Amino acid sequence: MSPDFARAVELLRAGQLVAFPTETVYGLGADAANPEAVARIFAAKGRPVDHPLIVHLYGHDAVDRWAEQVPGFAWELMEAFWPGPLTLILKKQAWVPSTVTGGQDTVGLRVPGHPVALELLRGFAADGGPAGIAAPSANRFGRISPTTADHVREELGDCVPLVLDGGPCTFGIESTIVDCSRGAPVTLRPGHISAAHLEAVTGIQPQLEAAAGTPRVSGSLEAHYAPQTHMRMVAGERLLDFLDAQGQQGVRCGIIGQSQPPLAGMPHLWCLLAADPVAYAHDLYATLREMDHAGVDLIVVEAPPDRPEWVAVSDRLRRAAGGSGSA
Ligand code: TXA
Ligand code: MG
Repeated sequence: MSPDFARAVELLRAGQLVAFPTETVYGLGADAANPEAVARIFAAKGRPVDHPLIVHLYGHDAVDRWAEQVPGFAWELMEAFWPGPLTLILKKQAWVPSTVTGGQDTVGLRVPGHPVALELLRGFAADGGPAGIAAPSANRFGRISPTTADHVREELGDCVPLVLDGGPCTFGIESTIVDCSRGAPVTLRPGHISAAHLEAVTGIQPQLEAAAGTPRVSGSLEAHYAPQTHMRMVAGERLLDFLDAQGQQGVRCGIIGQSQPPLAGMPHLWCLLAADPVAYAHDLYATLREMDHAGVDLIVVEAPPDRPEWVAVSDRLRRAAGGSGSA
């Protein structure tokens, strides 16, 4: 075990926080079986205590310690996608602290597909306890999730005694969340693992959680994953007119384009992201952060195509724009 892992495990056992990379985004981890440690996560993030956390496990052998009444389709999903960017919501075992579950009778579980996360979980599991690491994304509440160790330090600074650096995250947006506690799969948060992937494995078409009502998932709040700078989404065909008008009013825009190549002679900052949704997702949060730092007046994102493979990216963009930022 390299020194950082040893220190990380020591800190977790002592009830302290450790930030670590996953294949989606960086997580802010604490011993999920220790309510005082979990309380430190909420304090560091400034997160409301009724928002449940995902418990990260080393492997699906540990699922029965945390969850009960696990339906067959949930086991099929674990077999197919773990380790990987999929979180399953399951009925919790009675002992599981309500600090972790936000007072709900369910618990979110995931085995992350990142070697550093897995090595940390393996080391933490070695003492034979229930060995789950509760970890939300390592950002302040409502802000953009971090996809590098530097982003974590920028977000949380001295609140985290140790940040394990595993380089930039592969996927760059958070895991797909599937509620398996209601008899049939319900997608609570879209991600890299799509509805088509889920259906191919279970033979059941997952339902999409209705947006209305009290959020069961904090990421389902309309304003979330948000940069500090105001942000608008604009359809590709309206983009140039929109920018022209902004320029005339003296508004300097940071543009996240996709199909439109950068245009010379505009007073704006232009960033072109990939036309492929996986590559786009990989760069999205880092680009939003860059735009935030660049001191532009308005971030303008060219709306991505209205196609199933763009659902997860569109979801994050819509929330980053505060739920009302389309133009
Ligand atoms: O990719 C990810 O999922 C990352 C990495 C670090 O694993 N984690 C992450 O955590 O995005 P967080 O806390 O930022 O988002 C997890 C979401 C929250 O919106 C939370 O409400 C939801 O999972 N969640 C956790 N347990 C739940 C439960 N029992 N019922 C419903 N939603 C739950
Ligand atoms: Mg988050």
